[in-house]
Amino acid sequence: MQAFNETVGQRVVFLATGGTIAGQAADAADAVGYRAAQIGIEALLERVPGLAQRLGSWTSAAEQLAQVDSKDMSLSVWQALVRRCQELIDDEAVGAVVVTHGTDTMEESAYLLEQLLDVDAARVVLTGAMRPATAVQADGPQNLLDAVSLATDARARGVWVTFAGRVYAPAWVRKAHPYRLDAFDAGDAGPSAWIEEGQVRWLCAPVSNGDGLAAGHSRAAGRAAFLAAQRWPWVEIIHSHALADARAVSVLVDAGVEGLVVAGTGNGTVHVELERALTRAVEHGVRVVRSTRCGVGRVIGTPADAFASAGSLSPVKARIRLALDLLSREGQLSSAASAR
Ligand code: SIN
Repeated sequence: MQAFNETVGQRVVFLATGGTIAGQAADAADAVGYRAAQIGIEALLERVPGLAQRLGSWTSAAEQLAQVDSKDMSLSVWQALVRRCQELIDDEAVGAVVVTHGTDTMEESAYLLEQLLDVDAARVVLTGAMRPATAVQADGPQNLLDAVSLATDARARGVWVTFAGRVYAPAWVRKAHPYRLDAFDAGDAGPSAWIEEGQVRWLCAPVSNGDGLAAGHSRAAGRAAFLAAQRWPWVEIIHSHALADARAVSVLVDAGVEGLVVAGTGNGTVHVELERALTRAVEHGVRVVRSTRCGVGRVIGTPADAFASAGSLSPVKARIRLALDLLSREGQLSSAASAR
């Protein structure tokens, strides 16, 4: 779809990964009994009224990177997504990437991309839909139009999620509702911008990375380790709750788990039984990180804490951050070993 005389950096590439936005139902009024990830990206784009006008002077291209229900996200799809996004960012003709994605794990992919891509000068926008493409109430076309508005906004450097007219930063965005069309929010951070009739109204300086990016963390090194990985480090999330049973922790440690994220109560507090088991896990070399099961807010750590704090990262994002740390460490250890 490349046009003649294309201006450098004025192309949007749509990268499709599946999800409800590409879903199909036998009954247009059925908003739950459908199959996600059925319709190809070219056909989806054809269903978006006004797309050419919204693109304006920008050209576009479309690629079907994967066709998955995002609950089934795999390491190989994530690696393909990170690799292709970075290739497109490095391509001077490309100004922005729009990723269509299932809503169920969109916040995880957005966070992963934000952690690994060189996005300082590029724009990567994820969007999806809560209703399949064949539904009477299909929200995919409007979300795609909004994604184009955001992707072609020069201020929108970084990785973003746009959904139901809002723009969210990867560090904060979360799926907060299983059914509503405005299924996403960003906890107490709120949306970073609104999109109204194609205009992006920023509510804050557009900074897509929150405090999730560890100080000194190099995106290039992290990306190299991630793309070279043969397997995703084994990191589990366990919940602390009334009458918590610590046996699960012992089973996981015996089975070789490498990291544990505990979704703690309140300010990341942990049932005394679990705390004992987690302390033993640390003694066995397992990395333990404390997050909160509260949907909003952050864990406020103290110097006396036994386990590292996930700060404002949700349990699923803390899990990604911890796994990426483990991968980088593995990479460093193996390059040190091969240098010997
Ligand atoms: C998915 O996450 O792929 C299915 C659900 C959705 O996109 O809303």
